[in-house]
Amino acid sequence: MPSATYFTIKPMHPTFACEVEGLDLSKPLSDDAFAELQDTLHKYGVVVIRGANFPSDKEHIEFSARFGEVEKSKYRNPHMRSLPYPEIFDISNLDEKNQVVTNSNEKRTTAIRGNALWHADGSFNPRRTYVSCLNSIELPPPNTGGHTEYADARQAYEDLPEETKEKIKDLVGVHSFLHNRKTANPDSPLFKDLNVMDEPLARHKLVPIHEPTGRPVLYATAYTHHIEGMPIEEGQKLIQELIAHATQPKYVFKHHWATNGDVAIWDNTAVLHRATAGGAYEGKYRRDMRRTCVMDSGKDAFGLNNPEDAKGQRNSS
Ligand code: OGA
Ligand code: MN
Repeated sequence: MPSATYFTIKPMHPTFACEVEGLDLSKPLSDDAFAELQDTLHKYGVVVIRGANFPSDKEHIEFSARFGEVEKSKYRNPHMRSLPYPEIFDISNLDEKNQVVTNSNEKRTTAIRGNALWHADGSFNPRRTYVSCLNSIELPPPNTGGHTEYADARQAYEDLPEETKEKIKDLVGVHSFLHNRKTANPDSPLFKDLNVMDEPLARHKLVPIHEPTGRPVLYATAYTHHIEGMPIEEGQKLIQELIAHATQPKYVFKHHWATNGDVAIWDNTAVLHRATAGGAYEGKYRRDMRRTCVMDSGKDAFGLNNPEDAKGQRNSS
């Protein structure tokens, strides 16, 4: 068992992801306990805290702010609940009337389907997202699905053949929010007439270095539309191959949500994740999940983008 002073670390996968036990998040952590938790997140990429039990959204936001600048969601879809804090992203399957979303609610189901593709939160933004903290307020009944999967994008890069590393290490991925939605919803009239190239794009290195650990990361996500300077189709083929490589079962950890109040924290600059689709709870049982996101402040935070563009960035999903 790896040693820690303020909690116990339980590794959940051979190369990444852990659960920590013995942390009480109902009151603020000491600076030392928080620093140890942040180090643990950097090392493992995903930290699950069972029974975290934030007393309310307020403590969830305050905890997240220890990691840096918390994003405020700018776009509230009218088909979503109005939650009081802009820092809380509504990841639930509930609509504006607090009812379970059904397939007829196209505006919501298209987003939910987009979340089921492998991604890093906010990679489509000029300033990318660092930490996400997902709080389970109300989970669906056991054995009805709704779990979350993670992929180890650092180990995946490390294991690539040397010639592939050489070929991709200086490439730039061009990311698009719309690309994810179109891919997940190929027939949706909502996106049919929209062209990715007419919408905002963000440029990020395909292999940034994860600063806290010095390890390179395969930063290819469901938002990565093409590779700069490469014919579109050739770039898309490469992106598909890299995502397929990084999400092989040996790189994947599946987090089974168990009890309301459990929390998952992940480092979007080190791992990929996705919601698992097709659970029996869909369209039937409530899954009330709330997320905060902390913006990246590292060297690659703005990728190759103009920091000015980050002022109007989309900040969603
Ligand atoms: C997210 C996300 C997955 C899930 O909150 O960013 O992708 O299982 N969630 O809800
Ligand atoms: Mn996500």
